[in-house]
Amino acid sequence: MSTLSIAGYGDKLTVNGIRIGDLSPADHEAIEKEKGGHNYKPLEDVVVSHVRNSSTLVCRKPDPEKVRSFIEEDLIDGLCCYSAVNQGQLNKTIIDAIVHHLTKEKLPTVPRSIRHKYMSAFLLASTALTKMDRVIPKVAGVEAAELMFKTARRWGYQVKGIPSGEAIIVGAKGNFHGRSMTAVSLSDDPEAKNDFGPFVPGIELVPFNDVVALETLFRQKGERIAAYLVEPIQGEAGVIVPDEDYWTKVAKLCKEYNILLAMDEVQTGFGRTGAHFAHQIYGIKPDIMGCGKAAGGGILPVSFVAGRDDVMGVLTPGSEGSTFGGYPLASVVSVFAIKVLVEEKLAENAILRGSQLLEHFNNLKSKFPDKIKEVRGKGLLTAFEMFDEPKFDGHKVSLELLKQNVYAKETHKSTIRIAPSLTINAVQIDQIAGAIQNVIGSL
Ligand SMILES: Cc1ncc(COP(=O)(O)O)c(C=O)c1O
Repeated sequence: MSTLSIAGYGDKLTVNGIRIGDLSPADHEAIEKEKGGHNYKPLEDVVVSHVRNSSTLVCRKPDPEKVRSFIEEDLIDGLCCYSAVNQGQLNKTIIDAIVHHLTKEKLPTVPRSIRHKYMSAFLLASTALTKMDRVIPKVAGVEAAELMFKTARRWGYQVKGIPSGEAIIVGAKGNFHGRSMTAVSLSDDPEAKNDFGPFVPGIELVPFNDVVALETLFRQKGERIAAYLVEPIQGEAGVIVPDEDYWTKVAKLCKEYNILLAMDEVQTGFGRTGAHFAHQIYGIKPDIMGCGKAAGGGILPVSFVAGRDDVMGVLTPGSEGSTFGGYPLASVVSVFAIKVLVEEKLAENAILRGSQLLEHFNNLKSKFPDKIKEVRGKGLLTAFEMFDEPKFDGHKVSLELLKQNVYAKETHKSTIRIAPSLTINAVQIDQIAGAIQNVIGSL
């Protein structure tokens, strides 16, 4: 007799007789605590059930009247899965394409060792969008960072002529590139690194937005430096926007010292900051770039590395690959994620709604000068930082915002990032700002 039974769908889904729709928020928390790894600490007392529309989540909260029961409420999504859902939840164009692909075209999965016809569509769309020569598909954002790192090292040896085993990759302090060993080796966040060593060697960090520090390092060690691998705007660090002229100066330095500019656009790409890619705002072009998150249209994990011919050209068969990188369904999803980005003019909406949100933030800063320390953002990648006192604890603010039916999350202790889907409308932006005003006012 089988010891495992799974039946039904949705709320009627049962696993070993436990019906998912009957579980209260406390039950879900208990199961996660008992059966899951403890690598996340989700906001207390809410469980997302489904989506109402492109920017609204329906969540379950404990019923104040009845024990072990829940009520459902709408939440405006101010985070959109860390910018993975730029196209909005269940974007119709993408969903139609997936349904058509699976039910009519019928080609979900084959590996890269046999050619499939949707790879051509993906390569044509992604090179046209990025204005790059070559693209390699991967799955998670961290893999795009990892592949940029490897490619830059190999380019350093084979093209630049760095002595074998001596290549240096430069990163920026406060960076976030994901959770692989290479990404945490690049990180300077003690929580991300503690007891995971020994780390990948050949890494140097400079302060972000400091051209002098970068030039000093290039002068000292430029012959061995293969790349400066960096986010155009640091997302996880709390939406750190560099000086307007930083990137033109960096691009010039990289050219002068024959060092690759490798940009991690996993979070800033796909319209988020008001251009298809953030580097375009600054009028520069990286030599190699990593994308992820919204490259999968908020449906599938899709990432890719795009770059110049001579840089990407160092990769050869056998040196790099991925079972699910660019499989047929992912290729189709990404093509339609790109179509929506372009045709629905998501970058333009990011500029419009982002400036509306930043205006609200600036008004709040004037109203609460003793509470809000700084307001930052580009397009719809925005944040406000509070004075770093226990009273203005970011986690507490996130919990209070939930009570106002807005989902947002602190990036650092006292910084709250607001980065909703790029399909968000003016009314929803006003609702987010109203909720923030209520919470900040009550602190
Ligand atoms: C800039 C940047 N790079 C890489 C990643 C890692 O992406 P993933 O979590 O999909 O591996 C993230 C995730 O937040 C990111 O912001």
